[in-house]
Amino acid sequence: MTYIHIGDVLEGKHEGEKVMLRGWVHRIRKQKKMVFVLLRDPSGVVQIVIKKGAVSEAEYVAATRMLIESLVTLVGMVKADSRAEGGYEVQVESFDVLHFAEEFPITENQSIEFLNDNRHLWMRSRLLTNTLKIRDEVFRSVREYFRGEGFYETTSPMFVSTMGEEGAELFEVEYFGRKVYLTQTSQMHLEPQLYAMEKVFILAPSFRAEKSRTRLHLTEFWHLEAEEAWCDHECNLKRQEELISHICQSVAKNRVVELEELGIDRERLLSVEPPFERMTYSDAIEYCQMKGLDINWGEDIRTEAEHILTDDRDSFLFIEYYPKGIKSFYMKHNEMDPRTYKNNDLLAPEGYGEMIGGSERETDAQKLIDNLVRIGDDPKKYEWYIDIRRYGSVQHSGFGVGIDRLIRWMLKLEHIRDAIPFPRTVSRIYP
Ligand code: 4AD
Ligand code: MG
Repeated sequence: MTYIHIGDVLEGKHEGEKVMLRGWVHRIRKQKKMVFVLLRDPSGVVQIVIKKGAVSEAEYVAATRMLIESLVTLVGMVKADSRAEGGYEVQVESFDVLHFAEEFPITENQSIEFLNDNRHLWMRSRLLTNTLKIRDEVFRSVREYFRGEGFYETTSPMFVSTMGEEGAELFEVEYFGRKVYLTQTSQMHLEPQLYAMEKVFILAPSFRAEKSRTRLHLTEFWHLEAEEAWCDHECNLKRQEELISHICQSVAKNRVVELEELGIDRERLLSVEPPFERMTYSDAIEYCQMKGLDINWGEDIRTEAEHILTDDRDSFLFIEYYPKGIKSFYMKHNEMDPRTYKNNDLLAPEGYGEMIGGSERETDAQKLIDNLVRIGDDPKKYEWYIDIRRYGSVQHSGFGVGIDRLIRWMLKLEHIRDAIPFPRTVSRIYP
């Protein structure tokens, strides 16, 4: 016999059979001659019963001494039982306590602050376990999508010497006597790589010294970024909607149990299909004004405007052609409306905010230099970045997805910190 997972028992594969299980004591209830345990492993929770007389006296005594989170292995008989959570019960024939846990600090009804201070332990909760397994599926499906489309996965440095994204705050790091930064985006180191591979993507952290304590900002977040040669604005938007749809479909199909336990309707994810609706920035501003918001053309679309645009929507929305004044210097000039660049954001439904920022990139070295001068930056610092426009400059586009934000939307999480194992925010760097 070999160990099986609790999930297999819950699927009814072993009814009437003797099985070997191992896991942690999730809950325990002691009666006079019986100990009821909810046993947990990554695949689920099942009720096990240890009856006095059915196991050795030493084993029974051990069972009565166990506290929650103790580690056990057992042999037992699987019985269908409608009274048990999950519909099955395992009647224990022999078992072993591999580790007697100390009193577990997490009990019911504790504050969010306490739970986050004990995140290294809280991780074992069904909420976080299910979320992390869905996060894994997001990472897996991202790679599946890009591989299938002929992209190469690559890496880029986390230490950088220049700003990557205007407006985003930088973390400074002391680097052998000089100041460098933690990267805010991998985009600038991704673009040169498409001259070698044409289609590239990266899944890596980005760092931003965000002082804003909002439910959608981390100081270290996971950034999925892609760059594609021979790709214009239109092709870029198609890429984004296909990718997001593929991720949602994959999670809906491959994480059925986890979604159910989290109370997320799979239909909500299955309905994410291309094409996504589009609105120009100018129309978005007009719409917000019509709804009574005090906002002018040229101002950024922030939280309040995002809510107005998406609170009542159940599908994703592209906003395209933002003004130059609020977006980055590397974006492609839009001839149709010279005040704007060929760029886009992707807003999630239901007020969950911005998920993606993307654009076609400027291919002309002189225009890049002019843009930098216009915003008062020094083109000399960007010499290497401008250089790639000097040798076979190719039309290309790209975008960056906030993976933790996407997971937050998928699972309707109250706060972005619950989309990531160990969140980093202004006020949290422990554990
Ligand atoms: O819109 P952003 O700043 O765009 C860029 O960095 C581009 N260089 C990306 C590219 O074209 N390669 O960031 C992209 C996305 C945002 O839409 C948002 O989802 C996420 O990154 N993001 C954050 N997620 C969590 N916490 C933060 N502090 C974030 N800042 C941005
Ligand atoms: Mg943005």
